[in-house]
Amino acid sequence: MRRLSLLALKVPAVLLLALPPLAFTHLYSALTFPSLVALVAGSRGLARTSRRLQGIETPYAPRPPLQQAHLGWYFTGYDYHRRRVLAVLSLWFNWIGRDPATWRDLAWLGTDPLVGTVLLLTSRLDRHARWTRVLLAPTGTARLGERVRELTDSRAEALDAQAAELERIERDLHDGAQARLVAIGLTLSLAQRALRERPDEADALLSEARATASDAVRQLRDLVHGIRPPVLTERGLVAALELLALEHPLRVGVAAQLTGRLPAPLESAVYFAASELLTNAAKHARGSTVEIRIVHNGETLVVTVTDDGIGGADTANGTGLAGVRKRLRAFDGTLTVGSPPGGPTVITMEVPCALSSPRTSTC
Ligand SMILES: Nc1ncnc2c1ncn2[C@@H]1O[C@H](COP(=O)(O)OP(=O)(O)OP(=O)(O)O)[C@@H](O)[C@H]1O
Ligand SMILES: [Mg+2]
Repeated sequence: MRRLSLLALKVPAVLLLALPPLAFTHLYSALTFPSLVALVAGSRGLARTSRRLQGIETPYAPRPPLQQAHLGWYFTGYDYHRRRVLAVLSLWFNWIGRDPATWRDLAWLGTDPLVGTVLLLTSRLDRHARWTRVLLAPTGTARLGERVRELTDSRAEALDAQAAELERIERDLHDGAQARLVAIGLTLSLAQRALRERPDEADALLSEARATASDAVRQLRDLVHGIRPPVLTERGLVAALELLALEHPLRVGVAAQLTGRLPAPLESAVYFAASELLTNAAKHARGSTVEIRIVHNGETLVVTVTDDGIGGADTANGTGLAGVRKRLRAFDGTLTVGSPPGGPTVITMEVPCALSSPRTSTC
């Protein structure tokens, strides 16, 4: 059956191969341009289907965005155009034409109907799969390019997140503790003035200043907690999550197999990510229990948060889950959401990392 569907793909490939003779025998005719476009688009389509059938990753470079430059000109990343339609066409041709994967697709289209058919008819399927990988799998350079793009994106996200965090801390300090300290200063100077003539009023003002000081301390404590909870620093991720579990309105179980400490920035990221998942379970799940499992298999930390609620978690419907995904991407980690209607919701965070021994807490 599989052999047959792979053989069936050779038919459109042979039909596409009729296009270059059509384009070049009527060179510069009305047929040349459309035949070449159909050839490239058709080879991409067929190569995509073959890749999907054989589980091969996509090797194409992403399409650069069309940018609006000064005075109404469009910049394609390669050249400038005044008219949008020309800019879009130029972008498409430059993007497709400069991508080595396009030429590899065309080379595959030219050779596969013969080589692929012979291999399918005379040998094992794995030989055909190996042949397909030769031209359709991403090259080392393409993989490297993709990795550089991923790292550039995650670095930009990490920098944005860091800037947003600094701004939040600055606002919290400005509107919280700083405002309280200013108020204490004013109340104390009023109390000082009232001390001799109106001691009762001074006493009331001093009590007010003391209450404001406790308020400022509480706000500073909350702020520190929002940056890195002390229990996380002192006792590590599992203890910090157990504490979160105790304070949670649902029944939360924590099962952990961790023999050492994680690097501090990763510990914070996973703690705040798990905290968002617990908040979501309380807000949206309508279930009664949550289970947190933490496992380190030597190379990767895997944290799974499962609730017995109604399901329907979707990263596209809010900022919380998308934020967790970004947070983990900075560590090369991933977030997988499994939440069918009716539940359960299983959210898995995986981050490659090494554990340090319990005594040496660096990694
Ligand atoms: N455990 C869960 N059970 C059921 N639905 C969930 C669960 N977690 C998330 N969802 C759904 O997925 C959506 C996205 O969650 P997300 O955390 O991104 O946003 P949010 O919680 O609505 O808002 P916020 O941006 O404040 O976190 C939620 O609006 C909710 O509908
Ligand atoms: Mg949320």
